[in-house]
Amino acid sequence: MSGSGTNLQALIDACADPAYGARVVAVGADRDDIEGLARAERAGIPTFVAKVGDYSSRGYWDRALADKVAAFEPDLVVLAGFMKLVGEKFLDRFGGLTVNTHPALSPSFPGMRGPAEALEYGVKVTGATLFVVDAGVDTGAIVAQTVVPVEDDDDVESLHERIKVAERAMLVESVGRMAREGFTVVGRRVRLGGRTSIE
Ligand code: GRF
Repeated sequence: MSGSGTNLQALIDACADPAYGARVVAVGADRDDIEGLARAERAGIPTFVAKVGDYSSRGYWDRALADKVAAFEPDLVVLAGFMKLVGEKFLDRFGGLTVNTHPALSPSFPGMRGPAEALEYGVKVTGATLFVVDAGVDTGAIVAQTVVPVEDDDDVESLHERIKVAERAMLVESVGRMAREGFTVVGRRVRLGGRTSIE
């Protein structure tokens, strides 16, 4: 979590229904005083912060982040609007169990400017991608994708807002299924259902 946390809110709201089959055990952020942490606090969910600047190297930050996450023993880690790349230590512990969303249709437009680059390129559809985090930038195996149109009068903000509506629905649907049904990752292919495993 790095910002406003509307993806987080969608998950918190979904978890209010016991039939959803998942619970948010904790919310972590790489900065203080953000709306995402306030959303968690309002829902009575424990929070933690690990700021890169509080550690002498990126590696120590990565290890501290992994320790803080591990303390809550999650079955699945969701990077919902987390704008930092996790490192080797984190992936050693949670690789295969960590998902992230990207506001573009991978493998197009990876990185921080997905909606802007889609607009600049002139694509007629774009969307969001849920993927299993690996060491690359938005390169992990794809769990789900959702498509939205690019309208003629879109600017970056209107396009990103349309993407975010679809992104939240995809995240809620897929995380619920991953929690209820398990998932398997074989190479780049992710299948929902079956005991959670990574080959
Ligand atoms: C989402 O579109 C996410 O994919 C991107 O930034 C946005 C975060 O939104 N990385 P929010 O903080 O969940 O509202």
